[in-house]
Amino acid sequence: MLAMNNTENTRGSLPHGRPLQTDFNDGRDYPRLGSFSFRRGTLTDNQEARWEEHWPHYGKVLADEVIDLPEWFGRDAETIVEIGSGTGTSTAAMAPLEADTNIIAVELYRPGLAKLLGAVVRDELTNIRMVRGDGVEVLQRMFQPNSLQGVRIFFPDPWPKARHNKRRIIQSGTLHLIAQRLKPGGILHIATDHADYAEWIDELVTVEPELEYLGWPEDQSDIPILTDRQITTKFEAKGLDKEHTIREYLWRKK
Ligand SMILES: C[S@@+](CC[C@H](N)C(=O)[O-])C[C@H]1O[C@@H](n2cnc3c(N)ncnc32)[C@H](O)[C@@H]1O
Repeated sequence: MLAMNNTENTRGSLPHGRPLQTDFNDGRDYPRLGSFSFRRGTLTDNQEARWEEHWPHYGKVLADEVIDLPEWFGRDAETIVEIGSGTGTSTAAMAPLEADTNIIAVELYRPGLAKLLGAVVRDELTNIRMVRGDGVEVLQRMFQPNSLQGVRIFFPDPWPKARHNKRRIIQSGTLHLIAQRLKPGGILHIATDHADYAEWIDELVTVEPELEYLGWPEDQSDIPILTDRQITTKFEAKGLDKEHTIREYLWRKK
């Protein structure tokens, strides 16, 4: 069990020590978190004040607690999880267009969550909640099997050096875990601007038997979730500045 108390959730602090990692031990590959997960960042005084007031309502910290979705959102609705939401620019831009869907942004970086929390409060976005923690552990511990309508991972950290490739979040084990958490018909959407990461993903598109690979179909009318980010994300813009090609991938849970 993770040691967690209310103060940690109120402050949005991660538990002390090395983050817990589930030993999946199923022959698949899972990302290894590096020391980057300890990256700290300070909030402005305004952000701290807003955090103190609003995080307890909108946010949770990774814990051994299956989230009661109807209770947290105050309604019964489909749920999409976005892993690595960064500053939440596209999360906030997409949310009003999918107002009937619950959106949960999972991110390790507290200043990014603080920025998204600012947008949520300012724009009165009622369908967004946030979890601070490693996306793999959050999926594993906090969601029931067959419970999600969608999972999004936009511009995951590329970890370009070969010796860091094992930190990449897209691996056979992550795809398996996502398949377990998606409902039948649920959609996984990944985007990257990194050519080498795209090649890495290309190798994995059919590795998980429960995910039907759809590529990036021109006609997306039968895809039950929004796939247009509405806005260029911070990291998408950095890639476009370097004239990187954006690659998008969709899978459907069988
Ligand atoms: C390159 S940024 C992209 C952010 C955003 N999606 C965008 O496009 O601007 C990757 C983000 O994923 C977060 N991240 C990395 N590993 C993660 C993990 N295991 N769980 C949750 N978030 C993670 C990082 O903190 C970072 O904010």
